[in-house]
Amino acid sequence: MQRWVNGIMAHSNPSIQQSGHLETLLWRFYENRLRSHQKGKHCHRLRKAEGPAMTEQEMRDEIRRLAPFRHAVDLPYGLSTYVPELNRRETERTRLSNLVKHVWPSLLQICGGSFHGQRILDVGCNCGGFSFGAAKSGAEYVLGIDVVDRYVEQANFIKRALALQQVEFKKMLIEDLDEAIVGHFDITFCFGILYNLENPVLAMKKLSSVTRRIMVVDTDVAQTAIGESPIWRMNFRDPDTPESPSISTSLWRMKRVCQFEPNAHAVNELLNFIGFSNVMPIEPVVEGLEKRYYRGKRKTWLARRE
Ligand SMILES: C[S@@+](CC[C@H](N)C(=O)[O-])C[C@H]1O[C@@H](n2cnc3c(N)ncnc32)[C@H](O)[C@@H]1O
Repeated sequence: MQRWVNGIMAHSNPSIQQSGHLETLLWRFYENRLRSHQKGKHCHRLRKAEGPAMTEQEMRDEIRRLAPFRHAVDLPYGLSTYVPELNRRETERTRLSNLVKHVWPSLLQICGGSFHGQRILDVGCNCGGFSFGAAKSGAEYVLGIDVVDRYVEQANFIKRALALQQVEFKKMLIEDLDEAIVGHFDITFCFGILYNLENPVLAMKKLSSVTRRIMVVDTDVAQTAIGESPIWRMNFRDPDTPESPSISTSLWRMKRVCQFEPNAHAVNELLNFIGFSNVMPIEPVVEGLEKRYYRGKRKTWLARRE
């Protein structure tokens, strides 16, 4: 019998276990993995976990315990993380599928038709809907980071329910990203986060330092009269109450926060400034997006180094 442990084939045959040989091999594997990790060259394979899947009842119980989820993700047994009586906003039903329809065609086109072989970073991943979307489209490895324990717990539940191993979630601030720890990524997803940041330039420089090729930026944009000048509007927000409809995204605001909303020109300039010379907006041509996309209050960009 064999099973995967952290990407290593482990044998339950006692004669192999007791020989000490396996332990040496495992140790060498970890050493090599650590070395390539430090060089930013990870070797993650697309793999499904073996062993018993969760039962239907276990999944139902976890969905109820962890709801509401920001993204509607389909699970085995015909279940979904979207449960009408537990969710609070229509966008929790529609956001993931709509944004995938909106962004994936242009992104896949510049990636040659699939995410095969790509390492993807999903920042402010929340319950991980975009990370799972990337895995479904063939990504070799996806790391989702978020600062809220509950959202990381939601993401790890979905990962377990879908029995995926090429996706990992960590509790981490964007501002603490370090290439020596996380390595490099071909593509970084920056969905719904830029306008939340207290230090957007610092955070985006961090993201640029771990992103080799492409950054996807989806953000609220300030409507400013002087369209041609880059402008950041300063906002202050208080924490939400537990009854708030936006609790599936706002738990990170534990105290009053300061955040900066860019106008469209500022997003272009910032992406150029941090090293992406080719910045292209994705026009909202698909149906069903939230109204703010069609009104220009929310926009999505694909930024490339080349
Ligand atoms: C508006 S939600 C966006 C969630 C998801 N990316 C989407 O577009 O649907 C912002 C997410 O970013 C997380 N977040 C906020 N500030 C962060 C930071 N500095 N570092 C990492 N995550 C952060 C929040 O906990 C929240 O899950």
